[in-house]
Amino acid sequence: MSAHHTTETPELAFSRKYDYACAENYFHKRQSGMARRLSHWRETQIARHALQRAGNPASVPDLPCGAGRFWPMLLEQPKRVRLAADNSTDMLQVARSRQSPEITRRVTTLQTSAFAIDLPNQAVDCVFCMRLLHHIGDVAHRIAMLREFHRVTRESVVVSLWIDGNYKSWKRQRLERRRLEAERASQNRFISVRSTIEAEIRQAGFGLNGHDDFLPAYAMWRVYTLRKGA
Ligand SMILES: C[S@@+](CC[C@H](N)C(=O)[O-])C[C@H]1O[C@@H](n2cnc3c(N)ncnc32)[C@H](O)[C@@H]1O
Repeated sequence: MSAHHTTETPELAFSRKYDYACAENYFHKRQSGMARRLSHWRETQIARHALQRAGNPASVPDLPCGAGRFWPMLLEQPKRVRLAADNSTDMLQVARSRQSPEITRRVTTLQTSAFAIDLPNQAVDCVFCMRLLHHIGDVAHRIAMLREFHRVTRESVVVSLWIDGNYKSWKRQRLERRRLEAERASQNRFISVRSTIEAEIRQAGFGLNGHDDFLPAYAMWRVYTLRKGA
């Protein structure tokens, strides 16, 4: 079924860490304690808003779906066709076993890389991509992934990432400057400079249709709605 056309699919080192134990841990971690539950609630709120801005699209692959924590929100729209995809088969297995049966029976899962999505051109209305792009440190890889989203979507993309220009990014950048060279080499989460990521988004063929910040001026998380051809 794949209509992917590039010759090489990047395989990033961080992608390999999502085995079964890591997937189980991710599921439990995201719902442990008040702070994480509050964070999930706020993230869900801004993701829902980003989808509203995209016109409440009907066909929305959750890529990567991880342990499926956004499935209940995505299924709030009764007519939404639900596809959930992830590079890790263990993540997909944990998502299917941990989400409620009422939810999972409405979801079809697909193992695929976000760099070579196993879907034809313009197969969906909107790609929903939470907490992946901030793991991609290489500009060529980020643009390759955004271009792949551009290939499979007819209309829009909702994507979350870390941006600069807030208290948390200032603190993290200060910490990173103090890190040893060896520690920096194993870094697998990156802050994007706003103007740079927005230029990369345009380079991949999208226009910016708005954004929401998790906690403006304080937190790094931002969710963008991208519109094709805008
Ligand atoms: C931090 S988790 C985020 C999952 C989910 N979106 C969430 O917010 O809970 C990152 C996910 O990306 C997946 N992943 C890593 N590399 C990937 C790739 N190249 N293509 C698709 N998924 C990938 C991992 O398996 C993992 O489930």
